[in-house]
Amino acid sequence: MDEMVRSPRAVEAVVTPPGDKSISHRAALLNSIADGNAHVSNFCVGDDRASMLRCLRGLGARIRKHANCDISGSDECFEIRGVGLDGLSEPGTALNAGNSGTTMRLVTGLLAAQPFFSVITGDRSLRNRPMKRIATPLTSMGARISGRREGSLAPLAVNGGNLHGIDYEMPVASAQLKSSILIAGLYAKGQTTVRQPALSRDHTERMMGAMGADVVTEGLNVTVRPSRLKSINVNVPCDISGASFWMVAGCCHPNARVRVKSVGINPSRAGVLEVLQSMGANVRLENVVEEGGEPSADIVAESSDLVGVELSGDIIPRIIDEIPVLALAACFARGTTVIRDASELRVKESDRISATVDGLRRLGANIEETDDGMIIKGGAKLRGAVCDGFGDHRIAMTMGIAGLVADGETTVIGAEAASVSYPEFWDTLRGIQDG
Ligand code: S3P
Repeated sequence: MDEMVRSPRAVEAVVTPPGDKSISHRAALLNSIADGNAHVSNFCVGDDRASMLRCLRGLGARIRKHANCDISGSDECFEIRGVGLDGLSEPGTALNAGNSGTTMRLVTGLLAAQPFFSVITGDRSLRNRPMKRIATPLTSMGARISGRREGSLAPLAVNGGNLHGIDYEMPVASAQLKSSILIAGLYAKGQTTVRQPALSRDHTERMMGAMGADVVTEGLNVTVRPSRLKSINVNVPCDISGASFWMVAGCCHPNARVRVKSVGINPSRAGVLEVLQSMGANVRLENVVEEGGEPSADIVAESSDLVGVELSGDIIPRIIDEIPVLALAACFARGTTVIRDASELRVKESDRISATVDGLRRLGANIEETDDGMIIKGGAKLRGAVCDGFGDHRIAMTMGIAGLVADGETTVIGAEAASVSYPEFWDTLRGIQDG
C-alpha cells in the first residue's frame, strides 16, 4: 500500500495514540502466570499485540476481550485469568511471534522456565534478528536452547525447566534482554541479578514489583528472587513512541499546535521529550497523573526553532525507538546533529540507520550514515519524494510525518507496515492533512 502525503497550511490536532506496547505486553504476560484475575484496558493495538496474545494463548493462557467492562470502566478490555506460575502447558505446535521482538524475547524467557519442549519462530525480519543475546544467559540458567546459526537465530527450540539464578553482566542495554532474564528468574532457584550497561525501559521490574514479586533495583542492577505474582488491573497509558511522531510534526511544521493525550512519561522511556527540549522545542506537559506505578501526561508541541544536538551514551537506550523521527526533527534544526552509540538500530525490524538515512536523503536532507549512527546538517529544505517503509512500522511512520512537513508530495511505499503498532496512523495523518 502506498500513501501520498502533503503538507497542510496548519497542523492543529488532538491525538490519542494507542496504548503503550511495552506495558501491554508485560501486563498480558505477567498476568497470565499470576494468581487471580486481571482487567487490562487501553491495551495496545496492531499486529504485535496479536503476536503476543497468540503466543500466550498457545501456552494455555486464558485471555479474552470483552466490551463495556465494569471493572476497568472502559469500552474494551482484556480479562486475563491467571494460571499461576506453573499452569502453562506444552504447545502442540510452534509459537509464532510474527514481527515482534519483544514477544519473542520475553516469551523465550518464559519458555526457558517451563518443564516442557517448545519452539518459537517469527516472520522473516524477526528470524534474522539476534537471539544469542537471550540464549546465552538463559542457557547458563539451565535451559537448553537451540536455533539456526548455533542458537543465534530463530526458530528457537527450548527445553526448559530446573533453572538456577545467575549474576549477569548484560553486553547491551536492552529491555527485552533484561526482561527475558527477569521472567526466567521468577522461576529460578536462588537469586538472579542483571547488570545493565545503561538504563533501558523498566516496565518489567515496575510491574513485577507491583504484583508482589521480590524484585529490587539498585542503580543499574536488578535482582529478582523466585516469586509468585498477584494479578493486577492495568489501565495502560498511551504509547510515547506513537506520540513522538505527532510531537515532531508539531515542532517542525511552521504553523502547528498538537496535543497528544495521556502519554506514558516513565523516565526510562521519555528521552524523546528531553531531547526535543534540549533542541529548544516548544513542548510541555499538562495534566500529569500517576496510575499503577506509571506516570502519564498530555504533551503539547508547537512550532519551534530547533537547534542541533549531540546524542550518545546513556540517552540512546531511552530514545531507541524514536531516533528515526528525531533524525527528521534534526533536519529542521539549525546546526549539526550527531547521533552515536546507536548501532542497536541496525538490528531492529529493519536496519534503521540505513533506512532513515535513505528516506530522509531522498527528500533532500543533508544526512550521512556512520557505523553507529548518523550526522545531520540541518537547514536543507525537504521536498516531497518517493520513499520506502522498508517493511518497518517506525520507518514508514517517520516518512509519513516527513511528508507532513516537507514541500510538495511525498509517497510512502509499504505504508501498511504501520499496522504493527499503530493501525490508525494513516487515518489520523489524513485527518490532520485535510484539516
Ligand atoms: C522494547 C525494548 C526495545 C524497543 C522495543 C520494545 C520492550 O528493544 O526497541 O521496541 O518492550 O522491551 P531493546 O530492549 O532490544 O532495545
